[in-house]
Amino acid sequence: MKGNRMNFIVLTIFPEMFNPFWEHGIIKRAIDRNKILASAVNIRDFAQGRHRTTDDRPYGGGCGMIMKPEPLAGAIRTATKKAPLAKRILLTPQGRRFDQGVAREFASLDGIIFVCGRYEGVDERICHNLIDDEISIGDYVLTGGELAAMVIIDAVTRLIPGVLGGKDSAEKDSFSGSVLKYAQYTRPRTFEGVDVPEVLLSGNHKKIEEARLESSLIRTFLKKQDLLENRSLSAEEIKILKKWCRDIEKIIHDQSIRGPDALSGDQ
Ligand code: ADE
Repeated sequence: MKGNRMNFIVLTIFPEMFNPFWEHGIIKRAIDRNKILASAVNIRDFAQGRHRTTDDRPYGGGCGMIMKPEPLAGAIRTATKKAPLAKRILLTPQGRRFDQGVAREFASLDGIIFVCGRYEGVDERICHNLIDDEISIGDYVLTGGELAAMVIIDAVTRLIPGVLGGKDSAEKDSFSGSVLKYAQYTRPRTFEGVDVPEVLLSGNHKKIEEARLESSLIRTFLKKQDLLENRSLSAEEIKILKKWCRDIEKIIHDQSIRGPDALSGDQ
């Protein structure tokens, strides 16, 4: 059963990277309000020998260094004792792609133990025995998993009930209804010659909701069409899309009346 506080434990050879992260903004507030527990543990503390080495050369040759299994296994086992229900996630460009859906999935967990790889990767036996999931934050290679852990902790924390100020701030996000957020404005009313749309000043909440839905749809259509293709549209949304079709057809029709040059797009 899920406890009342999400426990994030990050296993890293650079725990200090996380100090400023824990100490600012929504993450700090979530820690202060006991919504999350957050700690960064040094993998080196589990390394043996005078030099406490955490990496070694790969068997079979090749470039780069590999993270040794013993310190990682020690760190993961100790973290698992502290948070027995936590999911153990290895951060790697080879993992399942992180997105808002995965963030929602993680927000309902009891805890997450992040294993931050460095160098060329971690010994494969760690992945087999001590890891529940492998996650990538995108198709690019970082120098380590630390920034990826911060991205995930940030995205997940703001979905935990009671973390964000407004009652429904997280529900009205981009992506939460699988469309992008509508265009937003604050004071001044006119900025560098551009006015805030009149409807937002009207006080008519129904009209404002309609305008925001239309803005969300336009932005999704122009910037991330795949989101629209992968979702079932509401009657209201279909009405808006049909209106655009009519508007676009009218523009094309009016242009075609002006002759073929108008349609060539050369002017
Ligand atoms: N470590 C290195 N690159 C990464 C990425 N893209 N996502 C997660 N962890 C990583």
